[in-house]
Amino acid sequence: MTSNLTRREWLAGTTAASSFILSGAVASAQSFMTPNVTPTAQNPIRANLNENVYGQSLKARKAIADAADDSHRYAFRDIFQLQALMSKLEDIPREYVGLGAGSTEFLEKAAVFNALAGGDILLPTPTYGDIGRFARTLGSKLIEVPVGDDMAINLDAMRAAMTDNVKLIYLCNPNNPIPTIIEKNALREFCLEMSDKATVLIDEAYFEYVDNPDYESMISLVKENKNMIITRTASKIHAFAGMRIGVCFAHPDIIKRMFGLFTNTLNLPAMRGAMASYQDIKYQTFLKQKNKECQQIIYKMLDELNLQYVKSNANFIFFNAGRPTKEVSETMKKHHILTGREFQPFPNWVRLSLSKPEEMQYFADMYRKEFG
Ligand SMILES: Cc1ncc(COP(=O)(O)O)c(C=O)c1O
Repeated sequence: MTSNLTRREWLAGTTAASSFILSGAVASAQSFMTPNVTPTAQNPIRANLNENVYGQSLKARKAIADAADDSHRYAFRDIFQLQALMSKLEDIPREYVGLGAGSTEFLEKAAVFNALAGGDILLPTPTYGDIGRFARTLGSKLIEVPVGDDMAINLDAMRAAMTDNVKLIYLCNPNNPIPTIIEKNALREFCLEMSDKATVLIDEAYFEYVDNPDYESMISLVKENKNMIITRTASKIHAFAGMRIGVCFAHPDIIKRMFGLFTNTLNLPAMRGAMASYQDIKYQTFLKQKNKECQQIIYKMLDELNLQYVKSNANFIFFNAGRPTKEVSETMKKHHILTGREFQPFPNWVRLSLSKPEEMQYFADMYRKEFG
C-alpha cells in the first residue's frame, strides 16, 4: 500500500498518457488508474449516476482497511474527531456540524421535521428528487417552481410562489440534473429574506467541483445564525457513495433537533476513511483536473454536433440530444455505456455523468458514430 500511495501521489501531477501506462502495473489495486475503454455488459462505462469512478483516495482506502481492527467498538471518538475536522476545515464551531450516513439522511430528516410542523416545501423543478419524494410520502404539499429559460433556478419565481405555509425551502446548488449554479449575491439576498420565513436548506453535494467566480457556498450565513441548513456529501468527489458519509452545517438548535445529543448512524471505517480523504487535497485536485478534461472532451463533441448544452459546474453535463433520452440511453447501452435517465420536462435531454477522460472519449466516439 505504501508504494501505491507514492505512485498515486506522483501520478497526480502527470499526464493522462503516463498514468495510463503505469496503470497496467497496478491495475487491481488502483482501478482508478485504469480507464475502461473496452466496456462489456458486466463492466460498462458508468456515466449515469454522478459517481466518482476513480474510487477513493489511497490514503482513504488505507484508513478504511486499517479501521477493521477497531470496528468492533462504538465509534463515539471518531464521530467527535470527524466533526472536529469539518469544523476546522470550514472554520465553524463544532456544535454547528452534523454527520450522517450520506447527505440523504439530512434531506429526509428535514422533510420529516417539516411534515411534523405541517409545512409545505418550496423547491425548484427539475432538481434532485430525494427530498420531494420523501416529503410526498409523508403527505406534505410540494410547491414546485420550474427553472427559468436559462435553465437556472429562478429565485424570483420562487419568491412569488412563497406562501405562509412553506416551512422548508430546498435549493440544490449546483443543481442536479441541470448543473447550473445560483449567482452568489442573488442567492445570499434570497436566503437572508427567506430564512426569516422558513428554513432554507441548500444542498451543496457538488460544491467541490465548482470553479466559477459567481458561485459561493452559503455556509457563512449558517455562521451568522440564519435559519439555514447546508448539506454536503462525501459521495461525490470523495467517492464514498457506497460508504455513506454526509456532513451538514446548521445552527446548534437545528443540529440538536435533527440528531439529539449526537448522531450514531455512521460506521467507523467510513469515518476514518473520510477523515483521510478530506485531508488528501492532492487527490481532490487530481480529480478536479480529470473532471475538467472530461468536460472539454464532451463540449468538443457537442459543439461539433451543434447540440445545445448547459456548461457544467459539477461532474455531469446536461445536453439536448434532439431525440428522446431513452433512444440515446438504449443506443449507448449497446456500446456498454450507461447514461442518465429522462428528467421531465426535458424529454430530449441527457444527463451524462463524467467518468474518466479516456472513457468520455470512447463515449464521444460511439456517440458520433451513432448520431453524428
Ligand atoms: C444533489 C444531490 N444531493 C444529495 C445526493 C445524495 O447523496 P448521498 O450519497 O450523500 O446520500 C445526491 C446523489 O446523487 C445528489 O445528487
